[in-house]
Amino acid sequence: MIIVASSNGDVGIRQAMEVLRGGGSVIDAVVTGIGFVESNPDDHSVGYSGLPNLIGEVELDASLMDGQTLAAGCVGAIRGYEHPIEVARKVLEELPHVLIVGGGAERFAEEMGFPKRDLLTEEARAIWQQGLARDTNLTPGEAKFRERMAELSRRAADPERPTGTVNFIAQDRDGNIACGVSTSGWSWKYPGRLGDSPIIAAGNYADNRYGAAACTGHGEMAMRAATAHSVVLYMKMGMSLDDALREAMNDLKSLGGPWVSRMNIVALDRDGNPSAASNEAGKTFIYMRDDMADFETKERLYIPA
Ligand code: GLY
Repeated sequence: MIIVASSNGDVGIRQAMEVLRGGGSVIDAVVTGIGFVESNPDDHSVGYSGLPNLIGEVELDASLMDGQTLAAGCVGAIRGYEHPIEVARKVLEELPHVLIVGGGAERFAEEMGFPKRDLLTEEARAIWQQGLARDTNLTPGEAKFRERMAELSRRAADPERPTGTVNFIAQDRDGNIACGVSTSGWSWKYPGRLGDSPIIAAGNYADNRYGAAACTGHGEMAMRAATAHSVVLYMKMGMSLDDALREAMNDLKSLGGPWVSRMNIVALDRDGNPSAASNEAGKTFIYMRDDMADFETKERLYIPA
């Protein structure tokens, strides 16, 4: 049994492993691990205290995929719910759909009994306000601001802007795999923007027969190249996990346009081997097997863009 996660999963990986050790499912383990990251006030890229969109609203995206059945549940641009990964699980279990967004996702979360919470912390609000002050002397209420939102949203793609997301992959002793992703997306994004995280094949893919992969970084790239699915497909075609990661990262190099930037992948093959890749040097990921006392940190393959 193994849990693999992006480095910011360190606050939840031990608890996720406890779920597997206690006989819980891989879905239970992934949702548990991600839940701790979503509640972490120091993580401004996921859940509570995530950085807001251009107009100061925290909009969250999440997805969950079951590698045994290829069932998936996803939510996008959901406001006011701390645990979008739990709402995504309910989509998987209760609805005949894969992805619901915005007001519909909020309506569904309310119907499922999830508590509402104001997710914009004072610290996240201050970071947002400082960013706006740097970019413009306008406030979101002003007509001139509304006229310039498309232009201002382009600054969300600035590589210096804070980004982030959390990935968790779990495999049980029977080889069942689940993969989950949760994020507040790009800070300063245009309201309603979805990234790769709630999109199956872009930011998340799991298939017991081959393995799983999940992405962090600038989601527009993973959406255009179907990056998570590509890693799993390359393993299906016979590549080793590391070669599949290299190939999927190399696919991103052919993307043109101005929004080519950071991309990171964590992955697991069907035999329970973890690996990860990044186009930034020195990036790490974490994993924990059931026979380990604690998680280990490992360097990702560096594949320059
Ligand atoms: N990878 C997260 C996002 O682009 O929203």
